[in-house]
Amino acid sequence: MDLYGALRPLIFRFDPETAHNLAFWAGERLCAWPWLPEPQHPVALHRSAFGLDFPTPLGLAAGLDKGGTLLPLWKALGLGHVEIGTVTPRPQPGNPKPRVFRFPQAGLILNRMGFNSEGAEVVAARLRHRPRGLVVGGNLGKNKETPEAQALDDYRSAYRLIAPVVDYTALNVSSPNTPGLRNLQAPEALKPLLAGMLDLRKEMGLECQPLLLKLAPDLAPEDLDAIVEVAVASGITGLIATNTTLDRGVVAEPLRDRVEAKGAGGLSGVPLKAKAQEVRRCILRALRGRLPLVACGGLGSTEDVRGALADGAALAQVYSALIFQGPSLIRRIDQGLMTEAIEVQT
Ligand SMILES: Cc1cc2nc3c(=O)[nH]c(=O)nc-3n(C[C@H](O)[C@H](O)[C@H](O)COP(=O)(O)O)c2cc1C
Repeated sequence: MDLYGALRPLIFRFDPETAHNLAFWAGERLCAWPWLPEPQHPVALHRSAFGLDFPTPLGLAAGLDKGGTLLPLWKALGLGHVEIGTVTPRPQPGNPKPRVFRFPQAGLILNRMGFNSEGAEVVAARLRHRPRGLVVGGNLGKNKETPEAQALDDYRSAYRLIAPVVDYTALNVSSPNTPGLRNLQAPEALKPLLAGMLDLRKEMGLECQPLLLKLAPDLAPEDLDAIVEVAVASGITGLIATNTTLDRGVVAEPLRDRVEAKGAGGLSGVPLKAKAQEVRRCILRALRGRLPLVACGGLGSTEDVRGALADGAALAQVYSALIFQGPSLIRRIDQGLMTEAIEVQT
């Protein structure tokens, strides 16, 4: 058992957000350590996606390091990219606590964080000192009080500050915890949003910087087809699928009742796996290779990541599995992918 495995019972005695804050407190101290390892990823793991080079296809999904405070540590742990955020243009506290719940037996997390964010200005200032050799994405959202009709203004405000200090940006229109946000996935709302963002990207001279769109797993196949066509026609760079699900049906009884008793929020981790995979396959079929896709949702082993890449995803992201399995998961997945790469070569 590794150190995290040994400490896990203690860590899980704290409520998830307190545990998160303690881990980040310790992590920030570790980041100041001058002897953090510099993992050398074998060339066989390298990936090129949307014009960027990744030392490994495995990255951190948005929401864990919202403010980009632990970037040196993520790099030392062996991740190839980190998606910071969601960052909102202005600071906001998010929803009242408690707002995160873990169900370790099922590898499940329920969250209704609601974009707690320090705001784009503070995060951008921090990112100016980011480590080299790690791809950093900036996941952007709107403030809660901003009406849906003015969402574009919010995404643009956040983009102006964050885009210059990251390698790619991702528009989060799929969090279930900001009222109305998911309506922005509807083609008639998506078209002007993407056009407005691409205009700004051009204005800022960042045409070569990838702009991605992160989608929910709760979209029907026909909606997915329409969204894919809007995304391809718009000229954005790629898609991320998926965010958390609102579907309580992914949780088996009797756990479902306990999950429902915790109230609103999105589900992630093992119970999301099959649904996210189905949605990704549907998107990949509709895409026909026209845009790259980043896989996310329920990935927690080499097999899961390998499967997502074999399906056609360019990269893979983890979140919930890292909470349950600890940071050694990253090395295990990389080593597993490596073994496969060697087998393919020989
Ligand atoms: C506590 C928590 C907070 C999250 N916050 C965000 C967020 O701010 N922005 C975002 O795009 N996704 C957010 N997510 C969703 C994850 O990025 C990811 O899409 C989702 O959890 C599915 O991946 P997983 O099953 O590996 O956790 C959050 C997930 C969790 C569990």
